[in-house]
Amino acid sequence: MALKLALFVFVVIAAVAAPLSKAQSQTTTGLVGLIRINGTVFCSLNGNIGANSTVFPNALVQLRCGAGNIVLSIGITNGSGVFVILLLDPLGLIAPTVVPNCKLVVATPLSTCKASLPMMGTLQSPLQLVGTTSGLIPVTNFKPAGFVYNPAT
Ligand SMILES: *[C@@H]1O[C@H](CO)[C@@H](O)[C@H](O)[C@H]1NC(C)=O
Ligand SMILES: *[C@@H]1O[C@H](CO)[C@@H](O)[C@H](O)[C@H]1NC(C)=O
Ligand SMILES: *[C@@H]1O[C@H](CO)[C@@H](O)[C@H](O)[C@H]1NC(C)=O
Repeated sequence: MALKLALFVFVVIAAVAAPLSKAQSQTTTGLVGLIRINGTVFCSLNGNIGANSTVFPNALVQLRCGAGNIVLSIGITNGSGVFVILLLDPLGLIAPTVVPNCKLVVATPLSTCKASLPMMGTLQSPLQLVGTTSGLIPVTNFKPAGFVYNPAT
């Protein structure tokens, strides 16, 4: 699933980047952008620094936005608990709304990484802007501000 998504994103980027390279002047206006979010999920209730720094591998991390909590993109943590979420932002309109409107939700139950942790509830984190890297496709980088266990969802 992660591979398919990565492939899809890659194909979309390639499709968008190809015509743009023929019209370099447009790229300076930042018509096409990419949102990149990366971070580490730990296997603990505060989600940040686990007991003995145990990480949470194979966890589904969702980028949820807006009042409807719509899943705009996903990532899966690797063996080091590291995830990367990519989202195409064709007109650059999404990036400025990420911090106020979006959050990260670890959809995989915490009990998956450690049986003594709750089966219900999720780790959630607001987002923090890291910075923007320019290039053919400008990338706006975000990271989790800090995962906290939310028992309600
Ligand atoms: C996220 O990506 C940045 C830039 O590539 C890197 O410096 C940072 O270490 C990464 N963070 C994690 C938790 O992998
Ligand atoms: C860290 O790991 C050791 C060895 O497995 C264990 O005895 C200890 O309780 C752990 N620490 C915490 C805070 O869970
Ligand atoms: C997880 O991804 C990070 C960032 O790409 C990488 O540094 C790390 O080696 C990866 N860990 C595993 C177990 O693949």
